[in-house]
Amino acid sequence: MRSTAMTTLRYLCNGAFGLCFLATVAPAMAAGDARKGASAFAEECGDCHSTKEGKAKKGPPLVGINGRKAGAISDFAYSEAMLQSAINWTPDKIDAYIAQPRKIVPGGKMKYDGLADAAARADVIAYVLSLK
Ligand code: HEC
Repeated sequence: MRSTAMTTLRYLCNGAFGLCFLATVAPAMAAGDARKGASAFAEECGDCHSTKEGKAKKGPPLVGINGRKAGAISDFAYSEAMLQSAINWTPDKIDAYIAQPRKIVPGGKMKYDGLADAAARADVIAYVLSLK
């Protein structure tokens, strides 16, 4: 009897330790949560950006945006400001842009005030980068 209880206790401790370990490590590793980003994207970006390759809405398609040059979708009517921006879209640049679109591309035509919440931006970016 006693040894069964001990075994159970040890199992629980190990389990609890595992949880503690995960809880401590997760924030440092978390670049963004694509699953959470999907709903944030739908709310913040989905009116203007589709999630399908090649499909433009008010904004250009974002599939494949990582490493793409700004204004690279040939049949989308970008602003002159975006075409001249010489931005190469990396996660950092996308982060800065969606935080303050008008500051990063002054005179651009993305009519969006920006997403102030850094964690939400990280989630949205993780989601956008997961689009295929
Ligand atoms: C009101 C519509 C609208 C909303 C909302 C919006 N965008 Fe845009 N987005 C645009 C338009 C229009 C452009 C083209 C801007 C230009 O040419 O100056 C653009 C451009 C971009 C680009 C550059 C694309 C390229 O091919 O160079 C990125 C990246 C981007 N948006 C990401 C986002 C993300 C992520 C969100 C949500 C957090 C978002 N946008 C919300 C309309 C929108």
